[in-house]
Amino acid sequence: MSVLRRGGLVAFPTETVYGLGADAADATAVRRLYAVKARPVDHPVIVHVANSSQLDDLANDVPPWGRALAVAFWPGPLTLVVRRRTGAVCDEVTGGRDTVAVRVPAHPLAHALLAAFAGGVAAPSANRFGKVSPTTAEHVRADLDGDVDMILDGGPCAVGVESTIVDATGGEPVVLREGGVRIDAIAHVVGGDVRLATNGEVAAPGTLPSHYAPLARVEVVAAEDLAPQPGAFVLALDAVAVPAGLERLAAPHDADEYARMLYSQLREADARGAQVVLAVPPPAEGIGAAVLDRLTRAASVRRR
Ligand code: TXA
Ligand code: MG
Repeated sequence: MSVLRRGGLVAFPTETVYGLGADAADATAVRRLYAVKARPVDHPVIVHVANSSQLDDLANDVPPWGRALAVAFWPGPLTLVVRRRTGAVCDEVTGGRDTVAVRVPAHPLAHALLAAFAGGVAAPSANRFGKVSPTTAEHVRADLDGDVDMILDGGPCAVGVESTIVDATGGEPVVLREGGVRIDAIAHVVGGDVRLATNGEVAAPGTLPSHYAPLARVEVVAAEDLAPQPGAFVLALDAVAVPAGLERLAAPHDADEYARMLYSQLREADARGAQVVLAVPPPAEGIGAAVLDRLTRAASVRRR
């Protein structure tokens, strides 16, 4: 906490992925955050706070359904993009936009850090830009050690994929990124259909395809299309039969476990020298939709 106060960078666990935090009001600290991540300065970051009541310190004009979402899902894996209150965070956090992304994470260590700090903490995932997000403190150490002032170890992340981002700046909610909160649960709270932003439309630059990709090529395949090939490793639910001659990375039992393991298994594939990861996605509902989204993005990266 004192590290944040003096403009330092602290990596901390959340229930989704590890974040790399800086004081959201300190332009110098946030600039260093961007430099360490090698993140383009026009990619805004999420501001994390300890309690829902701090939303109004950062935001103006939050619609009633935006508040309802905060009540329903905070603390938890939901990020709300809202109109930004002048002066609450530095311009570097929002890429100069008049909106700001806010989240109240559920991890006890994140909560303790944020409560002690009391202000907003700007935190992208604690990986270099365009790489696989970290879900353990070890991943953060492997990526960023030496460049951060402190790494808080809260064990492996319980959700494993990033928060669901909902744009609450228009007349109706638009999901900018699928994640830990299911879209049908959001629809249930707002009492209507919820639209998923199309790729061209968006506004959430973290949704670039180059994100979430390991060094190995990723192919999204149907279970029946699995076939042996050199250097291939399979990521699939345990119910999927893997043909002889193909090695498994892991065999998660359901979509939740698949999500929890996803990033560590993509890292594991690189550690084992995989050429290609053949990923059979879980059913695309609930958290499975977020898993499919990340796999599809990872697969769309073109390599030489
Ligand atoms: O689960 C998570 O959300 C994790 C943990 C650490 O909280 N954080 C995370 O941060 O995934 P990052 O920086 O990797 O992704 C932040 C996303 C990006 O897609 C960014 O474009 C979007 O949030 N974002 C931030 N501010 C925004 C804004 N004002 N308008 C639209 N999108 C915004
Ligand atoms: Mg990220």
